[in-house]
Amino acid sequence: MAKLNVNGKARDYQADDGTPLLWVLREQLGLTGAKYGCGIAQCGTCTVLIDGVPTRSCVRTAASVKPTEKIVTIEGLSPDGSHPVQKAWVALDVPQCGFCQTGMIMAATALLNAKPNPTDRDIDDAMTNICRCGTYNRVRAAIKSVAAGGANKTDAAGIIHVDRSAS
Ligand code: FES
Ligand code: FES
Repeated sequence: MAKLNVNGKARDYQADDGTPLLWVLREQLGLTGAKYGCGIAQCGTCTVLIDGVPTRSCVRTAASVKPTEKIVTIEGLSPDGSHPVQKAWVALDVPQCGFCQTGMIMAATALLNAKPNPTDRDIDDAMTNICRCGTYNRVRAAIKSVAAGGANKTDAAGIIHVDRSAS
């Protein structure tokens, strides 16, 4: 039996050394927020934070994560969806199908923790997640909304309008 620190708790798991962290989170610990998309570190839908660093859990093995390293999944961001990034996502209706969105939220959270007022370039560099529904403009607007101090639908709509007319 091995241990991981997930969402503030020590959790036991049992898996071969090559087992991806994503499988342990989903199948042994019941944390199904992180999704399986590509399995090759491209799409980002499996993103969790490890000591604050956005990590693609489909290619990181569970065995490579030390019990002292702190894993945070979308379930650990807040107990009730009240994290500022989650609130902005809801207020701005960011998701379409939603499949990519937990990864997006985790990547955005890491970005905003590191850079509370990110530039467009910072957002471009950090948000490498793929969204097949094309929610990129609303993701950007939500990040800017959090940076501005809260979700404001009117302001965010303005940001979306500017982005669309520029493309
Ligand atoms: S499933 Fe991990 S990056 Fe796509
Ligand atoms: S919301 Fe559907 S893939 Fe991103």
